[in-house]
Amino acid sequence: MNKSEPNDYSTEAMQISNLKHGGNIYENAKKLNLQPSEIIDASASLVPFDPPQILIDSLNKEIRNLGFRYYPESNLSDLKEIIAKFHGINPDNILPGNGASELITWAGYEASKFGISCIPSPCFADYERALNCWNSNFIHSKLPKHWNNIFPQSFPVRPKGDVIWITNPHNPTGQLWGKKSLEEIIKEYKLVICDEAFLSITPNGDKESLIPLTKKYDNLLVLRSLTKIFNIPGLRLGYVIGSSKKIKQWKINRDPWPLNSFAIQAGIDLLSNIKFYEQWTKQIHRWINIERERVYKKLTKIESLKVHYSSTNFFLIESKTSLSPNIKFLENKGILLRECNSFRFLNEKWARISLQSEKNNTLLCKEIQNSFKK
Ligand SMILES: Cc1ncc(COP(=O)(O)O)c(C=O)c1O
Repeated sequence: MNKSEPNDYSTEAMQISNLKHGGNIYENAKKLNLQPSEIIDASASLVPFDPPQILIDSLNKEIRNLGFRYYPESNLSDLKEIIAKFHGINPDNILPGNGASELITWAGYEASKFGISCIPSPCFADYERALNCWNSNFIHSKLPKHWNNIFPQSFPVRPKGDVIWITNPHNPTGQLWGKKSLEEIIKEYKLVICDEAFLSITPNGDKESLIPLTKKYDNLLVLRSLTKIFNIPGLRLGYVIGSSKKIKQWKINRDPWPLNSFAIQAGIDLLSNIKFYEQWTKQIHRWINIERERVYKKLTKIESLKVHYSSTNFFLIESKTSLSPNIKFLENKGILLRECNSFRFLNEKWARISLQSEKNNTLLCKEIQNSFKK
């Protein structure tokens, strides 16, 4: 079992702070004397479309109307109303946050009340960070490293513990878990935290959402992010859906203005137009379906590489030898892959790649092929 002592800065806690995220474009751009926007960043899993015009209009409107001179509305009432309408649930069961990441920290707080958290791994490193914030116990349970290409899949492990953290689709494997198998899991744990940050962008993903089950199960918390779907990592906007009693306590404890006025207004405008939302997601699903097949076809031609099938816009590759030289080669060309050394149970023979625009995917595949020819 992993548990950092409050003052244990030298060992586990240091390792955790070194766990990487993708998207480190600034350092790479500086090294190559490029603008960050010139980097092909396949290490962070974002969609390659410009943010929608609705968002730009919303931000301009907010600058004109209120500007920067007022504190944001701290009850977030209008935003909660819109999210509630969007999902067909009660506003009291919603808490918007400064990206899903802020809410992951608070989910860690909730988990710390129940006992041991199970983190099926390899997985997104932030759960570990959040649990460490509250000095909470956790174990990593190993997920099988190989899977078939049919989605949704049944959740494969039932680790012993009190709380389980689920990511749907799973990061970094891209596996989409079936709602039915997840409902069985909800019955077995004191608390289930399901991170659906990538679910809406995943073709057929929303059918597997656990949001409707939050009405039935008090021990279920579902996390959502607007980062991926609208390509707005810089705005910071997400929300949690779950028991009103639990999230009310989070609101009492957290800082009074976690969301800025611009993110609040953007959330309202982006989620209040269902027709626009449906068209927008349809375009993303089409892009994933087309580009995923194209990239797979190209990369599976590389003999020493196994390309793991994914339901979404990122996937894992596995090599017979270390991928570090290939990643370095690509970095020098301004292309970033997510190395997997920092994921539990993966190593330098693995890398995560996120899909890009058609043009950049062609370039990406060509340079990956070149990196193996050296
Ligand atoms: C699985 C998962 N959840 C949550 C997040 C963070 O989302 P946000 O940008 O809303 O904080 C990420 C970011 O990469 C992620 O991969």
